[in-house]
Amino acid sequence: MRKKIVAGNWKMNKNFQDAEELLDELSEQIEKGQKSSKVEVIVCPPSLYTEMALDLSHSEDEERLFGVGAQDVSANGQGAYTGEISADMLSSMGVEYCIVGHSERRKYFKETDEQVAAKVDKLLAEGITPIVCVGELLEDREAGRHFDVIRTQVEKGLFGLKQLDFVKVIIAYEPVWAIGTGKTATPDQAQEVHAFIRGLVEEKYGKEVARNLSILYGGSCNAKNAAELFAQNDVDGGLIGGAALKAEDFVTIINSFK
Ligand code: PGA
Repeated sequence: MRKKIVAGNWKMNKNFQDAEELLDELSEQIEKGQKSSKVEVIVCPPSLYTEMALDLSHSEDEERLFGVGAQDVSANGQGAYTGEISADMLSSMGVEYCIVGHSERRKYFKETDEQVAAKVDKLLAEGITPIVCVGELLEDREAGRHFDVIRTQVEKGLFGLKQLDFVKVIIAYEPVWAIGTGKTATPDQAQEVHAFIRGLVEEKYGKEVARNLSILYGGSCNAKNAAELFAQNDVDGGLIGGAALKAEDFVTIINSFK
């Protein structure tokens, strides 16, 4: 059966000292909170803090408390790409996950579906699990074309994959109008799109693959609304921005599955 997952996307927040404090608190609270072993917790800090996050991702008796992810990766291999970080670098550090195609990358860095597909390929080649974000703008939803936008993003970003690779991917549905705005999608709106995405996957790769795909919801998901969202049939967890920056809130979200 598919995994329940809660991933924290820190974005460009926290200096070194604050990051250390948050990671410390998180490890302690996850350990104390006896998180259900059924939930996979992922923390995606700025890549600069990867090593520290990996160090703090295990308890003193070596129990793994959370997996560490990156927020982006280069679409290129190694070489003369100043400022970039390759999939090989991430995997050699022990990074297990990487967010790809976040709407902020699409908006501010003009990331295209073709680049998303190239990044996914690079990550899979290094054994890293891509968390691929899709989601419509407010104007898309208002014009009633959100399903078309999402279909295009899913098809172009992921449907070039062979089945044996596609099964390694996680998808996050993040309506852009809900990200950082405090305006969460209703549980029904989230469920509707998640079911739509699972349907697209079923058409392309079959029932079994669709059934095992984890689809996360992201966009103003917080300690108060997570339980209702996670209770939906096709919502398998969350990609959490703002609420991942407070250990207590993040741990409440982790424990929001029925
Ligand atoms: P938010 O961000 O929870 O702050 O809305 C979610 C995301 O961008 O992944």
